[in-house]
Amino acid sequence: MRIYAFEMRDDEQAAFQAEQQTHNVELILDKAVPNLDNAERAAGCIGVSVLGQGTLDRELLTRYRDLGVRFLSTRTVGFNHIDLDAATELGIKVCNAMYPPNGVADFTVMLLLMCVRNYRDAMWRSMVNDYSLTGLVGNNISDLTIGVVGTGSVGCQVMKNLSGFGCRMLACDQYENEMAKQYAAYVDLDTIFRESDVITLHTPLTPETDHFINHDSISAMKDGVIIINTARGQLADINALVDGVESGKIGALGMDTTEGEEGIIHEDHRSDMIANKNWFYLRQFKNVVMTQHMAFYTRQSVEMMVKCGVEGVVMMERTGSYRTALN
Ligand code: COI
Repeated sequence: MRIYAFEMRDDEQAAFQAEQQTHNVELILDKAVPNLDNAERAAGCIGVSVLGQGTLDRELLTRYRDLGVRFLSTRTVGFNHIDLDAATELGIKVCNAMYPPNGVADFTVMLLLMCVRNYRDAMWRSMVNDYSLTGLVGNNISDLTIGVVGTGSVGCQVMKNLSGFGCRMLACDQYENEMAKQYAAYVDLDTIFRESDVITLHTPLTPETDHFINHDSISAMKDGVIIINTARGQLADINALVDGVESGKIGALGMDTTEGEEGIIHEDHRSDMIANKNWFYLRQFKNVVMTQHMAFYTRQSVEMMVKCGVEGVVMMERTGSYRTALN
């Protein structure tokens, strides 16, 4: 069985080799982001594995199907980059990855602390021997209300992590989760917006959640609200974030993922010209912490992502199903 793995990072290589031996498959590893121009490379492969930066739309999926690809694994939890309906119609079975929520949840708390304690500004000052305190006063987390939007495994782990801080927590999701109820009261989204000092996003990107953080929802939030996003950039309209920070309505932003990041994140662009005005404008504010979509990036997660990427294709081919099959 031959599997073509796109978007391979060097640090995934050892895990790919281990999976190759475990399942006795042939893996072709390629750093390229999958697109129509390089689709032919997957000719002769029964499975393709991707890592989220390419768009697997109907056209690309049709090309893969014509080349003989029958299985697609994304080594990510999120699968908004794949047209699942098209894959199903084309007879391509798709699975995603599953990895412990701790990496993303830990990172979320780090961003939250950096925002609440104005640490970006403090860190920059210290680099030029400025150890002043002016403008750096923060808040005790125990005095804050934290609104958690999305109470799947990451949202719940964030609440568990935060439970030691003694803050009030509110939760919102279309499905209530018993674990979340240990830590938070379920309320509607309007209540989250109205009452939260910090709002942290842990919901998948779907047509319903796309840009649900926008000018209207931000205007319904508390003055000085802190927004943390370690889920998907497109949950928040970047124009609304820029306006919110400029006006002071938003007190701070902790963004591990920001709308328009495709083609920027996970690469060294020091010598590149990058045209993305909003993204670069947003990141220059002293109260905005933007990271390169790295909340997931722990040793444990990387191993699991690669494992699911290979094992998923193997199991779907050999048994017709996989624990994270999506169609
Ligand atoms: C996911 O697993 O859904 C992620 O967001 C991580 C990915 C960008 C590598």
